[in-house]
Amino acid sequence: MAEFHTISPEQFDKSPFQTIGKDWLLVTAEKDGKVNTMTASWGGFGVMWGKNVAFIVVRPQRYTKEFLDAQPYFSLSVLGEPFRKELSYLGSVSGRDEDKIAKSGLTVAHEDNIPYFEQAKTVLICRKLYAQPYDPACFIEKELDSKWYPNQDYHTMYIAEIEKILIQ
Ligand SMILES: Cc1cc2nc3c(=O)[nH]c(=O)nc-3n(C[C@H](O)[C@H](O)[C@H](O)COP(=O)(O)O)c2cc1C
Repeated sequence: MAEFHTISPEQFDKSPFQTIGKDWLLVTAEKDGKVNTMTASWGGFGVMWGKNVAFIVVRPQRYTKEFLDAQPYFSLSVLGEPFRKELSYLGSVSGRDEDKIAKSGLTVAHEDNIPYFEQAKTVLICRKLYAQPYDPACFIEKELDSKWYPNQDYHTMYIAEIEKILIQ
């Protein structure tokens, strides 16, 4: 069993650019006793409405979105370079089609009934505050719309309060 301890968001001293953009996140949630996860490399950490928050963006076709929308909590697990192969797999296959968590060899653990991965070096336990699909009318740089959304599958942005950070 991995030994995690809790730190406050103020003690979290890792670059979000490295953590999200380079290490990548596993966005994980549970619905009706089943867990699903997907890799994400877009998002942010910051402060909103006086709270420490994480935001992520999820396209409508992701199976994980059904899990995110089903209940108030999700986790973000940061595994990094040693697990690049598993992260790539979990980010290219849908949980609709395969039992991808079992096939990945990663181990699901729970903190306050929220699923995360035991192999993570950092885990953020997040409580949803706000969710909104991106609106094409709101793009100031219009090229972003045509570049990233040729199929109009606009991401939903989730802003969530970081309730707990676990590190190994
Ligand atoms: C490096 C990487 C980053 C990704 N980032 C995102 C993201 O931020 N948002 C998103 O909707 N999909 C993202 N994906 C795609 C999903 O992880 C992928 O479609 C996954 O298979 C969805 O699984 P699911 O259908 O089980 O939810 C990313 C994939 C990779 C490999």
